Amino acid sequence: MTNPASLFTMRAIILGSAAGGGVPQWNCGCPNCTAARNGGRARTQSSVAVSADGARWILLNASPDLRTQLAAHRPLWPSGPRGTPVGAVVLTDGEIDHTLGLLLLRESAAPLPVYAPAGVAALLGDQWPLYRVLSAYAGVEPRVLPEGGAVALADAVGAPLGISCRAAAVARRPPRYARATGAATFDVGLRLTDERTGGTLAYVPTAGALDDAVRSVAAGADVLLFDGTFWSDDELRTAGVGGDAPGAREMGHLPVGGPGGSLELLPRLGAKRVVLVHINNTNPILCRSSAERARVEAAGIVVGEDAMEFEL
Ligand code: MLT
Ligand code: MN
Ligand code: ZN
Repeated sequence: MTNPASLFTMRAIILGSAAGGGVPQWNCGCPNCTAARNGGRARTQSSVAVSADGARWILLNASPDLRTQLAAHRPLWPSGPRGTPVGAVVLTDGEIDHTLGLLLLRESAAPLPVYAPAGVAALLGDQWPLYRVLSAYAGVEPRVLPEGGAVALADAVGAPLGISCRAAAVARRPPRYARATGAATFDVGLRLTDERTGGTLAYVPTAGALDDAVRSVAAGADVLLFDGTFWSDDELRTAGVGGDAPGAREMGHLPVGGPGGSLELLPRLGAKRVVLVHINNTNPILCRSSAERARVEAAGIVVGEDAMEFEL
């Protein structure tokens, strides 16, 4: 008999393609949010699901929209009266849009394994005390992502999920809520490898630069999901959402457009396919008829959408 798992290659689903706030964002009347409210495409907040066998899934970040995202994808539904195909969560950073969804998993029957960089694990145990709050419910099992080396991802009972994960610290700054913190890693890019087939997903939803860390994660990947938050450095200011709004680089997001933007550099990383994720609602690439969207597509780069799936 053929083992169905042996026919399966690693699969990734973009659960949410938007940055914090989503599209539309509750208090935003920018052209993209207005279009989404008037029959255009809405986007949920940043998260990806990945699986090596189609049966057990790993969430890459846990967004505030997680409940809707899990309901939207049949492979993520429970198979019995209680249970979940979600075996573990991996966090790339401690931002609210990537972590708040952990609270929505509190009904879990067993402590949920949560892999995170050391700096993030410290924040979630203290300044943004999700781990402490959740300990009154199912609890989480914090697992620190080692730096440099790869870890074989495993579920709550330690059964391997068939995917190895290497984390590299990317250029960023700690979350806004973090008070003076010691030196620690708060943001990583991930290189996820199907241990059986070698298929590789690079996941870098937040990056302030295209540096050696990003290169090491992305080189030769079958798919690279990369930070598409902003088109330009002054996007928030020019969108009229606040004259004192921070610039993209100040927020730790390399803009897609402009001199030194990621559009110039991404095609040289050696990833087979490049897809932008974590896209802010102000970003003109969300408008299908914009000049910026045309430039992204001309570079062979895909603007990620919710529910996009990849075989790796
Ligand atoms: C980010 O990705 O820069 C943050 O999620 C922004 C925020 O919501 O504070
Ligand atoms: Mn974010
Ligand atoms: Zn908006």
